[in-house]
Amino acid sequence: MADKTVVDLLKGVDLFSELKEDQLDQLASLVISKDFARDETIILEKDESVQALFLIAEGDVKVYMTGSDGKETILTLLSRGDFFGEMSLIDGEPRSASVKAVTPTKLLIIRREHFLELLKTTPELATGLLIQMSRRLRNANRQIGSLATMSVYGRVAGTILSLVEDRGVRIHGNNGEMVTVIRNRPTQQQLAEMSGTTRETVSRVFSSLVKNGTISVMGKDLVIAEESRLHETDSKE
Ligand code: CMP
Repeated sequence: MADKTVVDLLKGVDLFSELKEDQLDQLASLVISKDFARDETIILEKDESVQALFLIAEGDVKVYMTGSDGKETILTLLSRGDFFGEMSLIDGEPRSASVKAVTPTKLLIIRREHFLELLKTTPELATGLLIQMSRRLRNANRQIGSLATMSVYGRVAGTILSLVEDRGVRIHGNNGEMVTVIRNRPTQQQLAEMSGTTRETVSRVFSSLVKNGTISVMGKDLVIAEESRLHETDSKE
């Protein structure tokens, strides 16, 4: 299905931003697209049955792990232009985490052998993949560090800082000052699952951060006015 729509969708995937038009055409002929409903599972942790890489053309997914007590920890939220499922393709091990659609989602799916072949012949793709994987490792390190050492207050602040790094957009605020916006912000429940705490705690931390002017909530946006204060919160509580 090397049609123009698929090529356009592929152009929206960061990983492929360095590919040339003919490389995109070639890739487009190899992918299939599939729709997932909200809450539908796409990948199950430890599964080995689906050998493919997934690219998000539309929608949002959560990457999570389920503890022995059934509790979910969200490792990250991914949206349009992101990819997942590369780890098992590269090391041949079972899936490292589960992935579920949190909104109706359209995915482009590329089979393992096609992806590995493309990796060999396209150095730009390999570099893009390494950059993304390094970014994810940095975020994971921050998450591990904050879970081990910080108060819940600091962990929620750390999660907001990860979101800033991942997908924060700098814009002028209402009074002309520069602020950072997280569009389509995660729910408080999702933030709790990313911070290893409860929704009630996130709500309490949010109220306090809103009260002291660090953040504000505007519809679906989370606005961060005072990023430096989020770095200072680990000593509180
Ligand atoms: P894979 O192990 O094949 O299947 C689950 C996918 O979730 C994994 O590949 C990555 O794409 C993604 N994933 C796992 N852990 C993380 C993480 N810490 N941050 C971002 N994505 C992750």
